[in-house]
Amino acid sequence: MKPLISSDLHARSERERSAPKLMFFGDPHGNFDLVIAAVERLQPEAIVLLGDIQACRPLHVELRPIMDLTEIWFIPGNHDTDSDADYDNLWGSELATRNLHGRIVEIAGFKVAGLGGIFRSKIWDPRRPMDEAAFQSSDAMRRTMKSHERWRDGISRKHRSSIFPDEYQRLLRSGPADILVTHEAPTAHPHGWKVIDELAEKLGVELAVHGHHHQNIDYVGEGLMTTATPFRAFGVEMGSHLTWPRDEPGPGGPSQDVLDLATQVFGAAAQAWLDKPHERLDGQTPATLAVEGGADRVRSMLIAIQHGGVV
Ligand SMILES: [Fe+2]
Repeated sequence: MKPLISSDLHARSERERSAPKLMFFGDPHGNFDLVIAAVERLQPEAIVLLGDIQACRPLHVELRPIMDLTEIWFIPGNHDTDSDADYDNLWGSELATRNLHGRIVEIAGFKVAGLGGIFRSKIWDPRRPMDEAAFQSSDAMRRTMKSHERWRDGISRKHRSSIFPDEYQRLLRSGPADILVTHEAPTAHPHGWKVIDELAEKLGVELAVHGHHHQNIDYVGEGLMTTATPFRAFGVEMGSHLTWPRDEPGPGGPSQDVLDLATQVFGAAAQAWLDKPHERLDGQTPATLAVEGGADRVRSMLIAIQHGGVV
């Protein structure tokens, strides 16, 4: 392959840049710098935050720099009910209406289904039949509570990020959809759940994306799911993102977002890093790996370096 020189990277970046329709961001946990930087750089039509948002100020204040650049959506994660501030800065934000949990919304031309929160066995252990769940709905749980046991006259703050069977079933009945975003993972993940796979299949999605586990995973690319699975599945790491539709590699070079990220991390040395065989890649160059189906692994390495890791 003809080596790219850094000026080629910049020229290509400017010339061939095409805005992605959708970007999915891994759990921010209060840090929105990388979300803002990526949106400013790539200008997607819309973004979805995959939970554990934990904004220190109301979310619309944190994301003010990109409020007019893109459409912002989210699902909540388990940590979004850790404190009153976590809860209020999300559910009390001007962006609260952009919560996708339990519904399907058309975003950037895709029908996106959302299931936020996590499974908690005190509500519903999805390894057991649904009718054995302790509570079918938050209303059913609330009715069992005395007024002094309630939080803001409802169920406890913690369980406002628990998945109730009626929410899952409502989403199932709302299909079909093109994309499923969840905080929990599908069963190919060691801590994943079969009901997430079943939801994706029954909704007929082509893509399932999750957060929570702080790992970038391309389940088919890493051999954890077969190509016979009717949907592609990805995990997205904290501080990372997935673009959709996938930015397929151009002829002879890595995809645009890999080039952008390498340029952002290494500046003028991006070409040297991309074209140098790497021992962590069994002697392959990051550029070759990115072209041959390993773009997510190259992205993960670049992000680790960006955060001060030695790779
Ligand atoms: Fe989480």
